[in-house]
Amino acid sequence: MPQPDRGLLWLGLVLGCSCVPLVSAALGNNAGDALNVLLIIVDDLRLSLGCYGDKLIRSPNIDQLASHSLLFQNAFAQQAVCAPSRVSFLTGRRPDTTRLYDFNSYWRVQAGNFSTIPQYFKENGYVTMSVGKVFHPGISSNHSDDSPYSWSVRPYHPSSEKYENTKTCRGPDGELHANLICPVDVADIPEGTLPDKQSTKQAIRLLGKMKTSASPFFLAIGYHKPHIPFRYPKEFQKLYPLENITLAPDPQVPAGLPPVAYNPWMDIRQREDVQALNLSVPYGSIPVDFQRKIRQSYFASVSYVDTQVGHLLSALDDFQLANSTIVAFTSDHGRQVMDLVELISLFPTLAGLAGLHVPPRCPIPSFHVELCREGQSLLKHFRFHDLEEDLTLHGNPRESIAYSQYPRPADYPQWNSDKPSLKDIKVMGYSIRTIDYRYTVWVGFNPHDFLANFSDIHGGELYFVDSDPLQDHNMYNDSQGGYLPQSLTP
Ligand SMILES: *[C@@H]1O[C@H](CO)[C@@H](O)[C@H](O)[C@H]1NC(C)=O
Ligand SMILES: *[C@@H]1O[C@H](CO)[C@@H](O)[C@H](O)[C@H]1NC(C)=O
Ligand SMILES: *[C@@H]1O[C@H](CO)[C@@H](O)[C@H](O)[C@H]1NC(C)=O
Ligand SMILES: *[C@@H]1O[C@H](CO)[C@@H](O)[C@H](O)[C@H]1NC(C)=O
Ligand SMILES: *[C@@H]1O[C@H](CO)[C@@H](O)[C@H](O)[C@H]1NC(C)=O
Repeated sequence: MPQPDRGLLWLGLVLGCSCVPLVSAALGNNAGDALNVLLIIVDDLRLSLGCYGDKLIRSPNIDQLASHSLLFQNAFAQQAVCAPSRVSFLTGRRPDTTRLYDFNSYWRVQAGNFSTIPQYFKENGYVTMSVGKVFHPGISSNHSDDSPYSWSVRPYHPSSEKYENTKTCRGPDGELHANLICPVDVADIPEGTLPDKQSTKQAIRLLGKMKTSASPFFLAIGYHKPHIPFRYPKEFQKLYPLENITLAPDPQVPAGLPPVAYNPWMDIRQREDVQALNLSVPYGSIPVDFQRKIRQSYFASVSYVDTQVGHLLSALDDFQLANSTIVAFTSDHGRQVMDLVELISLFPTLAGLAGLHVPPRCPIPSFHVELCREGQSLLKHFRFHDLEEDLTLHGNPRESIAYSQYPRPADYPQWNSDKPSLKDIKVMGYSIRTIDYRYTVWVGFNPHDFLANFSDIHGGELYFVDSDPLQDHNMYNDSQGGYLPQSLTP
């Protein structure tokens, strides 16, 4: 059984929608009491957090959560794009099973009638609630955040969300723009609030209601920041004086990178302040001053979200729910666990932690099976009285592997390379990450039958992460002479 006061901090990485994960299980309950679940999803959060060793970032609230949680050092999203990543981890199925690689289809129609994490809890007597960006809005959740299947009450969206990409950023010219970098005076913007502030308030309101509920609850809250644009209360900028902002240690396009692997970050280019820089497409570099400003605003946005998480967790304490609530914190795109884990493991792990039956492993294929898991249950990490012992006995990171994938419309970077629609996908990059290396093959992909052709190779990447932690030196070509680790040969 999980031990009192242990958390599960679930840090996800960093391969894409730019979205991070933590799980904290505060497990002081008496046998027989169902545990509640608070799932916090932060959009596009990378490991820029104090608990991951970042010295510059101010994230005291998340660090505090991490300090009594299980922190995953090597957690990987299955596809680093918001909608596919969220549908993947919320159903516990890989993108090749949900058949969602873009924003334009609903898995229940396109792939199979797969159960979701909240649906499973709902069917097991939980009140399930969604606040903010949990599922990606739009077709990918049937314009309803997968209601009524996933949620007991109508999902909440903050009303000020509609201003996110509008002209609300005061530029040096005194005019309002739709900028990438958008620190705001909250009192001055439409509605006098920001989406994440509204979401926190609503979540706290719901927690207050659940305090006296006879049923356990599953509350998912999705924060919009630090996803672009960086629209955040300007006082957070003061935490990060520009002169203290470091630059990326490796800003150059790596020499050995196959062009198909390059992401031309088209979404960023559309913003007015970025357009004004006249950057050349696709490889033109961003001026150093602007690089600093981007990093400053990303960090400020992380600190802003951290403050919201602080309010939320304080409310959990105030309502005396902290000892009966599993807190999982993740992004779509620690105490520490070195094992490589995948976000699709969230489903079986949360189910197991809450004492529900862990769904069985999926057969292959599993399109016809509504309830099964493609990820591992990570319960073993919570089972021991002493988590240190757990690490020694069970945390052999050499045995674990994480998979992820990313689609491309062409071999060379173009306007839709970062977010191709399904019909335009011609190449799929499949990655294997072990503790030692990341290996990616970019192969032909047919969007009509969803089949990848592994004999049609468009590019390859191989990085040894010990000697090349930032993955700047592609060893793929060197590996072609029979160098490839045995486990990677087809
Ligand atoms: C949690 O703590 C509160 C008071 O601090 C107590 O009343 C409640 O019974 C505890 N709940 C569980 C499940 O232990
Ligand atoms: C899909 O699953 C839901 C929830 O179990 C069920 O209500 C619905 O009837 C199913 N739809 C189909 C087409 O099987
Ligand atoms: C999607 O939403 C529409 C409109 O509410 C509804 O008619 C349809 O049944 C939903 N699709 C599924 C698979 O539930
Ligand atoms: C900025 O860097 C200076 C010099 O290292 C340091 O003294 C100061 O505390 C830093 N400011 C912040 C806000 O971190
Ligand atoms: C960008 O190009 C426009 C039009 O060619 C020019 O007016 C402007 O000065 C350029 N801006 C910069 C920052 O180079």
